Amino acid sequence: MCGIVAYLGKERAAPILIDGLKALEYRGYDSAGIAVLEKDGVFLERAVGKVAVLEDKVAKRGESEGSVGIAHTRWATHGGVTERNAHPHRACGGAIYLVHNGIIENYKEIKSELKSKGHEFLSETDTETIAHLIEDIRKDVSVLEEAVRLALGKVRGTYGIAVVSEDEPEKIVAARNFSPLILGVGKNEFIIASDATPIMKFTNNVIYINDGEIVTVTPSGYRIRTIGNEEISRDPEVLDLEIGIVDKGNYPHFLLKEIDSEPDAVRDATRGRLEIGSGNAKLGGIERVEDEIVQVNRLHICACGTAYLAGAVGEYMIEEYAGVPVELDLGSEFRYRKPIFEENDIFLAISQSGETADTLASLREAKEKNVLTLGVVNVVGSTVSRETDAGVYQHAGPEISVASSKAFVSQVAIMALLTLFMGRRRGMSLVTGERIAKELSAVPAFMESILRRKEEMKKIAARYASYTNFLFLGRKYNYPIALEGALKLKEISYIHAEGYASGEMKHGPIAMIDENFPSVVIAPQDSVYEKNISNIQEIKARRGPVLAIATEGDKDIAKLADDVFYIPKTLEMLTPLLSVVPLHLFAYYIAASKGLDVDKPRNLAKSVTVE
Ligand code: AGP
Ligand code: GLU
Repeated sequence: MCGIVAYLGKERAAPILIDGLKALEYRGYDSAGIAVLEKDGVFLERAVGKVAVLEDKVAKRGESEGSVGIAHTRWATHGGVTERNAHPHRACGGAIYLVHNGIIENYKEIKSELKSKGHEFLSETDTETIAHLIEDIRKDVSVLEEAVRLALGKVRGTYGIAVVSEDEPEKIVAARNFSPLILGVGKNEFIIASDATPIMKFTNNVIYINDGEIVTVTPSGYRIRTIGNEEISRDPEVLDLEIGIVDKGNYPHFLLKEIDSEPDAVRDATRGRLEIGSGNAKLGGIERVEDEIVQVNRLHICACGTAYLAGAVGEYMIEEYAGVPVELDLGSEFRYRKPIFEENDIFLAISQSGETADTLASLREAKEKNVLTLGVVNVVGSTVSRETDAGVYQHAGPEISVASSKAFVSQVAIMALLTLFMGRRRGMSLVTGERIAKELSAVPAFMESILRRKEEMKKIAARYASYTNFLFLGRKYNYPIALEGALKLKEISYIHAEGYASGEMKHGPIAMIDENFPSVVIAPQDSVYEKNISNIQEIKARRGPVLAIATEGDKDIAKLADDVFYIPKTLEMLTPLLSVVPLHLFAYYIAASKGLDVDKPRNLAKSVTVE
């Protein structure tokens, strides 16, 4: 989901900005651009498509010498994907240039007012309006940052912006409301970006810019003010993001690398947190609210996409083994519902990026209601992690592929830890806790045994790659996995796939079943195995092809299903950690066989920071 990079220092800005955009590519975008302040004007270049296209255009134009500039990858919301709509945008006077992440909700009224004052607009975007508004106000104030502050006071919506002006060539002004921005404080240089990846190469001294704050950067330093004109002093903090080598190595795609690292994601999520002897979990990040958690009345889990599905697995775990009622909500729905909170309710946000707009808005709604808020987050220092009262970091390392894989299993593993943490403080027996803890510690090895059979799944996927529709079916703990398997296939192969509760098939979807409509049925030998077997029989009676995910040693299912992929036996509540692995591989091999951009699927973004 779009990205901003801005640089002020001693080096040539253009190559740093281009590199920074490349580091943000994984977030998803459709066009890009840079603007660098030169001695004799502004070096502005924009391009539709990949950052490499922009890089070529910049190279063809020859050296840009300037050392102050801004850059952007756009994920279009207002106005088509064209060069004219790509950022940076400038005001009609030509001095002010701006890049923006987010949506300006009242841009139409501002735009018509500015047009009536003679401003001429070149693009269809909402963003360009901010540039003209700043220019309009700049005439009556002494410095750029004051014009930005007053302009943003008139704006409604979400933004992360960076602004430069030819009239004040040694300055960058950045501001944030909802769309994340981080300031990296280097040696006589500053880099501002949407997340830490472009900053890591320069420094690990960072300032997290909060909503409603404006940062002014000059060669002599930085200053922070609020939209309400309050001076803020904030020292840099050390970015403790493992500066992981973010490259594919010998893998063809990040996604395959990240699926392969799912066992390690579970190990990293549970490392130092599993207490097998006491059948418990040690979660330092929530221990200070332990009393509230023990007395919890209801847990409201809220997330989006794959993170929501991790929460869905957690719902089954926590209700069955911790005895806590769980309410599960999509972020995009929760924020517009009238959620009822009772005393001792707790809100739990799950978010890999920690920046998903819908999840963040729901978190803020819960805080409005004075509910204790917890977070399960992967990106250290992200907004969700900073705005929740307490939480658990995933430690899954940077997840680059837009489709989530290792972060998902990490989140599910943390749901199991939370189940132990809550359960053992609310009546779960030592025996039960010990069994869960022991089985959870064995899961990574089971996952590795599955991943050693990739070729087997690759062959199965090849047999299904030409179908244009799929039904994914599962029950109880594996119902969310059916939804996740369908989501993964959809988002990276663009094939229509629907996840469904197996028991619901007879209430409609079975009408679609014929020899051209395959079903993937997750049917491990668990408490609902017989029910799933009946579903497979119903499908076969209508000649539907069936791929079954089954428990090792189950020979009966092989007599029914067309294809079977076996997974090791484990506790029913932990099977999602195993059944999801072949489904991630299934989606990957089908998408890869189609030659698609597996890591950056069309229209998608890694972190959806707009509504
Ligand atoms: C996952 O494969 C998707 N890319 C998407 O659904 C993602 O899970 C969702 O946008 C939530 O992201 P978050 O975990 O960063 O909040
Ligand atoms: N709303 C702006 C546009 O459509 C910014 C989109 C983004 O966040 O990239 O250009």
